Amino acid sequence: MAAEKRKMKRIGVLCSGGDCSGMNPCVRAVVRSAIYYGIEPFAIYRGYQGMIENQIKPMCGRDVAGIGNRGGTIIGSARSQEFLTKAGRKKAIKNLHAHGIGGLVVIGGDGSFHGAEALCKESDVLTIGVPGTIDNDLEGTDFTIGYDTAVNVALDALDKIRDTAASHDRIFFIEVMGRHAGYIALEVGIAGGAEDVLIPETSSDVPGLAKKLVEGRAKGKMSSIVVVAEGDEEGGAFEVAGKVGKLAQIPARVSVLGHMQRGGIPTAADRLLASRLGLAAVRELRAGNSGVMVGVVSGKIKTTKLCNSWESHRKVTPELLDLVKILSI
Ligand code: F6P
Repeated sequence: MAAEKRKMKRIGVLCSGGDCSGMNPCVRAVVRSAIYYGIEPFAIYRGYQGMIENQIKPMCGRDVAGIGNRGGTIIGSARSQEFLTKAGRKKAIKNLHAHGIGGLVVIGGDGSFHGAEALCKESDVLTIGVPGTIDNDLEGTDFTIGYDTAVNVALDALDKIRDTAASHDRIFFIEVMGRHAGYIALEVGIAGGAEDVLIPETSSDVPGLAKKLVEGRAKGKMSSIVVVAEGDEEGGAFEVAGKVGKLAQIPARVSVLGHMQRGGIPTAADRLLASRLGLAAVRELRAGNSGVMVGVVSGKIKTTKLCNSWESHRKVTPELLDLVKILSI
């Protein structure tokens, strides 16, 4: 078997890109699964930048005790410009070799996976991706780690805003994260009963929205919530509110939820997903595999080539778009 051939002795784990809730239970799962299989785990602090700067330390089972319920990541995360260069990657690979690390688990999103792909091509270090991003924008997994927590955090905020919106008969434009991805906006909007959801994947109809809000008022809908993904082509929530406000003379307020969506106690779903994928990643390395992302599709662990995880940019389903439209009449 490939596992015997490679004799994987040491593996590294890192978090990269925008952090998300659930990275900690995933790090815990990678560390403990490695130990279970007789592999020595190493933490690489601050993502690829830490790999370049040799911030690499051995981990034991106790080092990850009590972190499963903590947001953020105890090993830090970063977006490394230097790793985008061949010279930076050369330094990083040299450090991995110096520690005898033959396998790597990269927890992150598409940017992090581009880095992982480059590592696969330029070194003999086996590399497995674990989808960790609030954006839920990767192919090859039904959900990314951190998404469920982010949706719940944003939904909690939306529910609170609805209270005050109703008291004052106001329209609220709530901006959620997602530069290129509308999944958070869409699911928060549906779960929170939004009047409309504006996302980058579809073209937004500002005059249509203004008309809908005015007509809503006429039939007794005195307060409404509009969810705007930060990357919508009409702009963020402030811009959209400004454009709609010019057309519909209705008192409106804007609330930008921002980075609170990246934090918080990971939900049970995220902890479970993180644990499953952490173990799956270690098993892939043991089997001698590389250049793939582990995900969960229809309840089962599945691997997808790293490049296929980002290439086709995950589409939003028409069913979810229909829900927004139909349930807001
Ligand atoms: O990719 C995750 C994400 O939170 C996006 O939704 C958001 O646009 C971006 O990261 C913000 O990144 P940062 O604040 O880390 O630069």
